[in-house]
Amino acid sequence: MPADANANGDIFGGWIVSQMDLGGAVLARGIAHSRVTTVAIDSMSFISPVNVGDIVTCYARLLHIGNTSMKIDVEVWAQRWSDAAQLRVTEGKITYVAIDSAGKPHPVRR
Ligand SMILES: CC(C)(COP(=O)(O)OP(=O)(O)OC[C@H]1O[C@@H](n2cnc3c(N)ncnc32)[C@H](O)[C@@H]1OP(=O)(O)O)[C@@H](O)C(=O)NCCC(=O)NCCS
Repeated sequence: MPADANANGDIFGGWIVSQMDLGGAVLARGIAHSRVTTVAIDSMSFISPVNVGDIVTCYARLLHIGNTSMKIDVEVWAQRWSDAAQLRVTEGKITYVAIDSAGKPHPVRR
């Protein structure tokens, strides 16, 4: 939406990162069967801008599972108003930690 745009008229990178963080956390939570928290954003590549009005979709894929952590690759694909084709616009690797109710790490239940 326009409120999420920067001075160039493209969507803020920070807005995209927050959607990726949420999308990756959904996968991590499902793997861990517990609460999770983000411990690191290991990489982030902004490949093409996201335009106001694009429909964006996040795809998350487990890369590595540790004792308490999960490294997840998140791709964002955008569909423009003018074109039904989807375009890969952003890719990042995010690490989540499974936490207990006190916020302390605990082993991922597999
Ligand atoms: C995440 C958190 C619970 C980890 O607590 P901790 O006492 O540092 O835990 P540990 O050192 O045992 O690390 C836990 C796991 O995270 C991994 N980890 C820690 N720091 C990391 C980093 N910078 N990058 C990647 N992995 C990291 C460790 O390797 C470990 O993985 P493993 O158990 O699979 O081997 C704690 O750092 C925290 O609460 N951070 C704030 C989280 C937060 O607020 N996130 C929102 C950000 S806006």
